[in-house]
Formats: sequence, C-alpha cells, structure tokens
Amino acid sequence: MEKILIVEDDEQLLEILSLFFQSKGYRVEGAGSAEEALEKYPMVDLVISDIKLPGDMDGIGLLERIKKTYPEIPVVLMTAYASVGDAVKALKMGAYDYILKPFDLETLEIVVKKALEESSLRREVEELRRELGAIYQEKRMVVKSPAMEKIMDLVRRIAISDVNVLITGESGTGKTLLARVIHDLSPRRKGKFVSINCAAIPENLLESELFGYERGAFTGAVSQKRGLFEVARGGTLFLDEISGMSLAMQAKLLTAIQEKKIRRVGGYDEIEVDARIIAATNQDIEALVKEGQFREDLFYRLDVVRIELPPLRKRKQEIPLLVQHFIEEFNRKHGKNVLGVDKEALTALETYYWPGNVRELQNVIERAVAIQRGPYITREDLPEKVFEWKDLEEDFNLEEYLDNEMRKFMKSAMVKAGGDKKKAAELLGLSYRSFRYYWKKLGME
Ligand SMILES: Nc1ncnc2c1ncn2[C@@H]1O[C@H](COP(=O)(O)OP(=O)(O)OP(=O)(O)O)[C@@H](O)[C@H]1O
Ligand SMILES: [Mg+2]
Repeated sequence: MEKILIVEDDEQLLEILSLFFQSKGYRVEGAGSAEEALEKYPMVDLVISDIKLPGDMDGIGLLERIKKTYPEIPVVLMTAYASVGDAVKALKMGAYDYILKPFDLETLEIVVKKALEESSLRREVEELRRELGAIYQEKRMVVKSPAMEKIMDLVRRIAISDVNVLITGESGTGKTLLARVIHDLSPRRKGKFVSINCAAIPENLLESELFGYERGAFTGAVSQKRGLFEVARGGTLFLDEISGMSLAMQAKLLTAIQEKKIRRVGGYDEIEVDARIIAATNQDIEALVKEGQFREDLFYRLDVVRIELPPLRKRKQEIPLLVQHFIEEFNRKHGKNVLGVDKEALTALETYYWPGNVRELQNVIERAVAIQRGPYITREDLPEKVFEWKDLEEDFNLEEYLDNEMRKFMKSAMVKAGGDKKKAAELLGLSYRSFRYYWKKLGME
C-alpha cells in the first residue's frame, strides 16, 4: 500500500483530501506546514503540497529540498490560479505536476496514480540497471536463471585450464558469446580469439583456412599463408557449427588435435599447435555420431567438457534483464534514450516462447528501440507474433483439445437445428457427409 504525504494549511481541505485518499486505499500522512512535512517526507512514496504555506518555507522550498535529498519521490503541487507562474517554475525544478485549485478529487487522483506508477516503473528499471552494472563488470553475458548460474560456475572453473569445450544449444542461445566469455576468462585472453564457421566454408578452403598453405601449394597460392591454428597460438580457436564439417576434414582435424601438430597445405614442416579448442553446434551431435555422420573419436576429443545452453523459453527469469541489456545496447547504437519496458509489454515478452531464442529477443528489442518515441516500450512497439500464441500446459494434447471444441460446436448446432443433422451440418459449414463422419468419430450418439 502506497503512502502519500499531504501538505496543506487549510485544515478542512487537508481532512477532505486525507479521507478521500484513504478511501481509495492509500495510507495518508498530513502536515500543516513545510517544516512539519520535512520530518515525514522520506518515509512516503509521494508528496502532494500546496504552494502557499505558512512559515518560512513554501511548497516550492519544500520541493527543492525533496528533489535534493530524495529525487525519486514524486511531488504534486496544488496552487490557486494567481501563482501559476510559480507552478511552471516548479515543473522545471522537478515537480511531477501541478493542479489548479479548485479541482475535483478524481482529477487529483488520476495524477497521483500516474505519478506512482511511473515512479515504481522507474524504480524497477533502476534495479535492473544496477544489476546489469554488476554483470558488465564481470562479463558481457546476462546470467540470472539457476541453470545459467550453474553454467557460469562451470565456466569459471574450466576457463583457467586448457581443456577442450563443446557447446551445444539451439540457434541463438548464446553459444558464440559463451565461447568468447570462456576465452576472456581464461589466461589465454592475451592471445587471439579466432573463430571460424565450419559449415559455411567449402571443404578445400576450410583446410587451408585452418592449416594455412605454402606458396605454390595450389593455383592462386602466390604467397605463404598462416592458418587459423597458427594465428590462435596462445589463444582460443573457436570451431563454430562443427557438425557441418565433412568426414575427411574431421579426420584432419582429429590428427591436428591428437598430435598437436599441423602441416600447412603443400608444406613439409610440422608446426606445433598451441590453441585451446572450443567447438559449437546446434545439431544433435550424438545422433550424428550414431549415424556415422560425425567421427566418434573426434567427438570425444572435443567433448571433454560439455556445456548445454538451454533455450530461452526454459530460462524466462532472464528475460527482463536481457531486455534491459538490449535496450541499453540499442540506445547507444541508434542514439535513443529509451528507459525500459512497460508492464504489459514485459508480460508479453516473458510469455512468448522465443523459437529463435536470445537472438530473436534481441531483434525484437532493436526494432522497438529504433521506432521508439516515448520513454517506455509498449505493446504497440512489439511485433504481433509476440501476442499470437498460447502458453501450453503440462500434458497438453492438441487432438483431444480440438475434439472437445468440435463436440461443443456440433452439440450447439444440433440444438439450434432441432435435431436435424442436415441442417446442423449447414450451420457449421460442413458437408452432410463430413458431419456424419465427425458425429460418429467423436461418439456423439
Ligand atoms: N546471456 C546473454 N546475454 C547477453 N547477450 C546474449 C546472451 N545470449 C545471447 N546473447 C546475444 O544474442 C545473440 C545471439 O547469440 P549467439 O550468436 O551467441 O548465439 P548462438 O547460439 O551462437 O547462435 P547460432 O546457433 O545461430 O550460432 C548475440 O548477439 C549475443 O550477443
Ligand atoms: Mg553462433
């Protein structure tokens, strides 16, 4: 229950206002002067004050004091028309709003309600920002759910060693980012983080990318080139989409990892390898091993430590913080000043199932920030898809659900048609034939 402090020297008005706000469910404190108010204001959520007050300090002086010490407490001023100039000055000094006397109570209540809503939203956003600040100091990855905390514990422990890591997870869950974080947390952060997408590059090119080549190794090899294994010496080699690698290439990679040596394409000299290997895939790599699509021996070499990133829908606690994180990222990119997301929009973002995971959320927020004019992202700024879906309950069965719905429609149609099946079929827009078919199938007799 929110607490309001009302500062008003007119005792009768003070009483009316107090009773009114109490009847609306607020807790109310009263004060007859600014001096009296000064003793009470830090403990309240909002202050309503008359501008003209007896004593040395008026409402403007009180406002100044509050804004200096507790700027987050909204202040609403009341004033007679004569001092409207003061009221404008007050707005510049940070008053939430002012209301002209005489006013009706409902109008005042609307202002108060809005002020309280905004300040609670602002507080929530502040809290998220503080939490993000802590995250940025440690790493760039937003981590909030127990599942991700556990992963980060593991990451901190294994980052310092040189063991190979295999990261699995659906597309957009943060595999590439996590590989980077592991590198940054490891003693190898002084070396390079070298990343290659094994599925996007044709096989022969992949080989020369990874191992390098000697001059004249093939047409076009006009000079010698170092491969990524060499570039990543003392650092980390990130093999993205590892399951897209051909079996022949897998064999060469295995040799390199096992012997810790490579040969450039067209070269004779053995070059020692010192790169930590992190691989990632969004495929079910164990299934590929079973099918013979991925070498088992290579799999075991890579899968020394396995990290499975859960899909975003399984760690929804992370969504508010991720949203805030992306808002700040895209504020910077688009020169915007969006503060946060309002309640309705956040609820939608928290319930959606995010098939494209964090990347999809990131795209949705970028778009919302880019088109944003107000301080908060609202429902209108989000794409329709976020609203057009149903949260599935445990043990949901679509066929059963649809059958039940169908039964209801058929029953209603039969009642309306007075038991005439032909007519009922017509009412439902079905052929008589299909009607009879469903009637029997759904056991309607
Ligand atoms: N926990 C997180 N905190 C902050 N940003 C994140 C987080 N997880 C993912 N992202 C961001 O979301 C985007 C997608 O993540 P990333 O590219 O790492 O996913 P991925 O699993 O590698 O996807 P793909 O399978 O398509 O390669 C990136 O911009 C990344 O920075
Ligand atoms: Mg990736």
